Amino acid sequence: MALKPETDAVSGVATTGHEWDGIKELDNPMPAWWVYTFYACIAFAAVWVVFYPSLPFVRGTLGYTGRSDLSRVMEAERARTEPMLARIRAATPAAIAADPELRGFALAGGRVAFANNCAGCHGAGGQGAVGGFPSLADDDWIYGGSFDAIQQTITVGVRNGEHPDARGVAMPAFAQAGLTPAQIGTLADHVLSLSGAGPASAPGAALYAENCVACHGDRGEGNRELGAPRLNDQVWLYGGDRAAIGRTIANARAGVMPAWGSRLDPATINMLTVYVHALGGGEQ
Ligand code: HEC
Ligand code: HEC
Repeated sequence: MALKPETDAVSGVATTGHEWDGIKELDNPMPAWWVYTFYACIAFAAVWVVFYPSLPFVRGTLGYTGRSDLSRVMEAERARTEPMLARIRAATPAAIAADPELRGFALAGGRVAFANNCAGCHGAGGQGAVGGFPSLADDDWIYGGSFDAIQQTITVGVRNGEHPDARGVAMPAFAQAGLTPAQIGTLADHVLSLSGAGPASAPGAALYAENCVACHGDRGEGNRELGAPRLNDQVWLYGGDRAAIGRTIANARAGVMPAWGSRLDPATINMLTVYVHALGGGEQ
């Protein structure tokens, strides 16, 4: 294709020399408004580069960064909430719950802290999950549902090996401790009978009395000191069918919860305590 500029006969405008199937491209000048806007943008950019960070490693004379902007906003937010947080830090969860103003603040803050730190295991509404994550929204408590008990559980966690006072003893794995599969089956039936889900048997009761009573109690009422859950209700950490119960007896489980005392500040732990207590099962 020849690039021969010529003048278009119809419009009298010079062409660029480009031609497609007889259609020629006119070489009109840019509209003036467009050209001046373009120059203005260049001038604006030149000024911007001086004041704001734009080139790599160049800060700009204003010293502005998005990060410093964010820290300023966060700082202001901290200053706004700090008086309230100081009161929450200094009060007991029971006192917080008794003060409508503190309670409202703690429930809102506790909800956020719960979503960030706890919901992954305990569910968004604290409803728990099969596999050892207890519901925090019912009145069935392994360690206790008073303000003090909840606060202590959150602070030290469960079987985590990181806090010296972490809650929860270890249940023996009875398959290793010498019980036969038949005995474990008999025990699973006995556990079901404790909650009325099956008939009791003399051999089951005998095995239970020998191996389980110390932790789970005569009637399967559980033991909060040890963290041995109740067996005579319909609430199960690991599932309530015969096979799941048998697996628990044979292999034992050892649910773990981190210690939050070293991860969250005392105000947050107080807010979480008030929030969990209010989920539905709080005890006096
Ligand atoms: C990694 C999973 C995990 C996370 C995260 C977690 N928990 Fe737990 N939590 C558990 C397990 C497992 C248990 C039960 C342990 C057992 O078997 O005794 C438990 C037990 C509890 C209990 C005792 C319930 C009872 O019946 O006595 C409370 C209260 C509790 N968690 C609150 C919290 C709060 C509040 C948070 C967030 C700060 C949290 N947990 C985060 C796993 C977790
Ligand atoms: C040393 C104390 C101890 C002894 C002895 C013990 N347990 Fe446990 N048991 C526990 C603890 C603690 C848990 C909770 C484990 C967890 O949360 O991971 C548990 C959990 C269970 C569960 C699961 C409950 C649920 O909600 O899913 C069953 C079932 C159970 N035990 C049955 C038995 C039987 C049957 C025996 C006797 C053969 C027995 N246990 C002996 C401490 C004990």
